[in-house]
Amino acid sequence: MSLLEVKNLKVEFETADGVVNAVNNVNFSIEEGKILAIVGESGSGKSQTVFAMTGLLDHNGSATGSVKFEGEEILNISNQKLNQIRAEKIAMIFQDPMTSLNPYVRVSDQMTEVLVHHHGASKSDALKQSINMLDAVRIPDASNRIRMYPHEFSGGMRQRVMIAMSLLCKPKLLIADEPTTALDVTVQAQIMKLLADLQKDFGMSIILITHDLGVVAGNSDDMLVMYGGEIMEIGKTENIYSAPTHPYTQGLMSAVPRLDDSEERLITIPGNPPNMMKSPEGCPFSPRCKFAVDKCNSDSPALLKIGNSDHFRSCHVDKEKIL
Ligand SMILES: Nc1ncnc2c1ncn2[C@@H]1O[C@H](COP(=O)(O)OP(=O)(O)O)[C@@H](O)[C@H]1O
Ligand SMILES: [Mg+2]
Repeated sequence: MSLLEVKNLKVEFETADGVVNAVNNVNFSIEEGKILAIVGESGSGKSQTVFAMTGLLDHNGSATGSVKFEGEEILNISNQKLNQIRAEKIAMIFQDPMTSLNPYVRVSDQMTEVLVHHHGASKSDALKQSINMLDAVRIPDASNRIRMYPHEFSGGMRQRVMIAMSLLCKPKLLIADEPTTALDVTVQAQIMKLLADLQKDFGMSIILITHDLGVVAGNSDDMLVMYGGEIMEIGKTENIYSAPTHPYTQGLMSAVPRLDDSEERLITIPGNPPNMMKSPEGCPFSPRCKFAVDKCNSDSPALLKIGNSDHFRSCHVDKEKIL
């Protein structure tokens, strides 16, 4: 049994202009102790996929399909049950730690509160556990720094505090939504490495969401590439990295800025992200795809297995043609 199994997930938003199809027929699963990266440009449906799973969609959104966590359906269950799951089993961290941390309350108070109120720990035990957790996320001099306020930490250190807080309840699954986007490149790399190390130390599974393909290599087991609310390609990270079989993945790869580049060159894929209002006819990437054939504009390609591997792609064009 997989830790998490997502089947035929669809997310729609009702708006004054019509229905937005943010997520279309998404299927994936995560095994215990694995890191899955969800990659795609801004607006491709990454966040709404995990928001739907955890009951965090905006009020105008609705989700259909199935999300099983430890074998139990969690899609569209009661808020009370979801709150419990989010407090005990599924933790989330976001791009801006300040959305979850109170800048004017000492880190010690924010961390110990979680343990005292939600887990019935004594004040002194909670403090000890919190300091240990700050140590675990490699915050130097944790026993003193724990008394600081979040605004006294640098961006990278603040994200470490946030990660430490999210790990206090020993989650089975950590969802990190663009956790390093606001940070500079060097700090980004450190946080990614930290998450991969923490996965090993704590044994949880991680969903790592990013628009930056450059940060997932070496820091994830599997990789799901999303565009226009659909899965373009999914498989082992190292396989996709060494031989991306989807034109969109290739486009993302060439858009990755290289660390050793002296000029800050950023190549982007020509064209604009899709209009999610239109019901998806054909492949959402076809208007921007340099390999597109007629069929790509009219028929939605199925997500098909490549040979005998765990690698799937959703594309009408022969992979030999684009490799
Ligand atoms: N409350 C909402 N109402 C209408 N559309 C929304 C709402 N929230 C998100 N969307 C749309 O859903 C699509 C997917 O968004 P999202 O999953 O947040 O993208 P990302 O991949 O950047 O995380 C986008 O087109 C976004 O505009
Ligand atoms: Mg997002």
